[in-house]
Amino acid sequence: MRTGVLALLLLVMWALPWFWYGAACVEEHEPERVAAAVRVEGPCVALTFDDGPRSDTTPVLLDGLAQRGVHATFFVIGDRIPGREDILKRMAAEGHQIGVHSQNHKALSDLNTAGLEEEVTRLEETLTQLLGQREFMIRPPYGFTSPCLRRWAKEPIILWSVDTMDWSDHDTDRQVRVVVDKAQDGDIILMHDIYHASVDTALRAVDELMARGYRFVTVEELFALRGVEPQGGKEYRCLPAG
Ligand code: NI
Repeated sequence: MRTGVLALLLLVMWALPWFWYGAACVEEHEPERVAAAVRVEGPCVALTFDDGPRSDTTPVLLDGLAQRGVHATFFVIGDRIPGREDILKRMAAEGHQIGVHSQNHKALSDLNTAGLEEEVTRLEETLTQLLGQREFMIRPPYGFTSPCLRRWAKEPIILWSVDTMDWSDHDTDRQVRVVVDKAQDGDIILMHDIYHASVDTALRAVDELMARGYRFVTVEELFALRGVEPQGGKEYRCLPAG
């Protein structure tokens, strides 16, 4: 009996320091854990979609983004808007950013100011009527810019740093690998919301990158997060931290 009590006492004496040590560890690491939570939660990237809206793909993408709580940026084509105004209103209502791709997908680099007014200003007016006054950033078709466009544009010109080339093969597996392997903090990712495969790619890439701690923001939000004031006529490809 006495040996039993002694053994128990010895066990308690042996275990106590471990208990204290464990408690001290938790305390010691607590400030670090708080700092990690306060730090901007992981890398941020902006998904951008050109050439829409399209009735049988864009709403499917919007459903998937809403389920994941993800905001993206849509650079739309003016000629595709009639009959699809509700899609644009839904984008805006759900927190997505809308920008100008062009009225009719012309290369803006070939145009003089009269042509730019026809391709850009006309679409800006349509978007203002639909969504109210706001800044509509410009994504030039094919990424083609010119000194004339840079001088003329009152809005920033948004290019990209990761190109999925999603129009070329409709191969979701390849496209997801491109996004997941290449995406880094501050990247602007180019996709098109007019292909079913691209919608699948976008949602799968979001799931994979979110699991790795990535956050998805609009281009405007990316500027704000980086503390960068977007300048009219200036080209931006990405906005990395620092
Ligand atoms: Ni385009």
